[in-house]
Amino acid sequence: MLRIAQALETQLREAMQQAFPDAWDATQGVGLDPQLAPASKPEFGDFQANAALPLAKPLKQAPRQIAKAIVEQLQSDAGFTALCLDPQIAGPGFINLTIRPERLAAEVAARLGDDRLGVPSVENPTPVVVDFSSPNIAKEMHVGHLRSTIIGDSLARVLEFRGHPVLRLNHVGDWGTQFGMLITHLKQVAPEALDTADAIDLGDLVAFYREAKKRFDDDEAFQTTSREEVVKLQSGDPLSLKAWGLLCDQSRREFQKIYDRLDIRLSERGESFYNPFLPAVIEGLKQAELLVTDDGAQCVFLEGVSGKDGKPLPVIVQKSDGGFNYATTDLAAIRYRFAPAPDGDQARRVIYVTDAGQANHFTGVFQVADRAGWIPDGGRLQHVPFGLVQGEDGKKLKTRSGDTVRLRDLLDEAVERADADLRARLKDEERAESEAFISHVAGTVGLAAVKYADLSQNRITNYQFSFDRMLALQGNTAPYLLYALVRIAGIARKGGDLDASTAQLQFSEPQEWALVRELLKFDAVIAEVEEELLPNRLCSYLFELSQVFNRFYDQVPVLKANPETLPSRLALCRLTADTLKAGLGLLGIGSLERM
Ligand code: ARG
Repeated sequence: MLRIAQALETQLREAMQQAFPDAWDATQGVGLDPQLAPASKPEFGDFQANAALPLAKPLKQAPRQIAKAIVEQLQSDAGFTALCLDPQIAGPGFINLTIRPERLAAEVAARLGDDRLGVPSVENPTPVVVDFSSPNIAKEMHVGHLRSTIIGDSLARVLEFRGHPVLRLNHVGDWGTQFGMLITHLKQVAPEALDTADAIDLGDLVAFYREAKKRFDDDEAFQTTSREEVVKLQSGDPLSLKAWGLLCDQSRREFQKIYDRLDIRLSERGESFYNPFLPAVIEGLKQAELLVTDDGAQCVFLEGVSGKDGKPLPVIVQKSDGGFNYATTDLAAIRYRFAPAPDGDQARRVIYVTDAGQANHFTGVFQVADRAGWIPDGGRLQHVPFGLVQGEDGKKLKTRSGDTVRLRDLLDEAVERADADLRARLKDEERAESEAFISHVAGTVGLAAVKYADLSQNRITNYQFSFDRMLALQGNTAPYLLYALVRIAGIARKGGDLDASTAQLQFSEPQEWALVRELLKFDAVIAEVEEELLPNRLCSYLFELSQVFNRFYDQVPVLKANPETLPSRLALCRLTADTLKAGLGLLGIGSLERM
């Protein structure tokens, strides 16, 4: 009802202006905002305008008096009376607004023929970078990266749907000291890995990395050689570059398998990409007079952010040995992402999806970029943090043997469990289905469950990973939503699909109106996710919609409805299915007709 709300907003503003033509200077900044909000309870109608209350003081009138004056103006506005029933003044001075039923029905009809389901494309598309997933080479992608991947993908989908050009960037950790240790270690224990593709697999690579890290921490000579290796690599030594390229390829292929399974598109642009731009970051900070040498390192001291000792915290951009840091790369990336094409991405909004543990890193980097003047007018940098993935015991997610959980295994297990659940259900229901059907349904449900479980939580909080909960057919789960879709597909099969163009919509039952109103919220929910970057809002909405639909379907005859009401009820079923499919699609989740 985004468009309806906009129309109402304008009508209210005009009514306020006309009711108190000379008073606006006297309102001391309270101004003309009608304070339009969705009604707090369904019996109050669709919207409420709360403007009268804050105006009481500056206008020196009782709020009910003010509300009455606004309502009188509204009643003489033909546009308003065509849209709303008679406004009601409630409580201390709220104006309750109810949209005319025929207008709601017309909205439903319009959405039936609209593949955007009433969600307008934005008027001013903003080029956006979504920096997400971003695992590290030579390490396994872990559940934190899974969260970033799932949340980032969903945010990108919503922004794309709204019409923004979105660049989905995989800022992989493919540069820096870890390669020095890894190359030094491999030269001694598995030199073939450095000049032959596929000589080792990712599992081996991860193990070698662990060994290398241990040696680096324990052995000073190893440390020195590793540092020399990094310098060699960073200065472009061909053999080092070749070894580095092979190691990256190895990891990249493994990552890609996960992305393919999850149906996720990403452009890889790792930390190494920004290597040539790092000296200019230091130079730029020097020119901006932000750089301070502290204990041999180049730093920028943050304003308003201090450590435990009360002293301002530094962002270290160049270490005493000349090496650059994670933060330096992020500063170079900010400049590149905001810079005009062709040597930049021309973005105006950059979104970083990482665990909440990196919040300080981003606060620091954003502040430095701002003080250096690297954020253009209207440019926005946003960190989208998320909490930890925990096991059912509330501790860090681990396998039974205490190892970190590999993503591949986790996805396999979700699908295996969905498969077992499905076979058990088929047996109960004495249904025979082909193996192809079972594997398709189990594959879709298993991955949908993993994604949805993650997205449906408020991302800021930690979340407990539970296969049982995410695969349950009841509750706020992917299977519950998919089941609603399957139910509707069954109705369409039995009742014949509806010809939307000829349907004359008429609703009478309260469950029908509840469903109509729920369906019409979709556009506002999408706009909210776009702004707040909280996919769980969309999940809650889809859950609510499924519940309202199930109530409607359980209480109002659909297939047995009489010929006059049948098309309207089928129309509600169709629009519910379309809305669920579109919503799930924006979460990166596929749909099913049967399950
Ligand atoms: N590679 C990092 C990690 O695994 C995440 C990178 C996030 N993006 C960024 N521009 N810093 O924690």
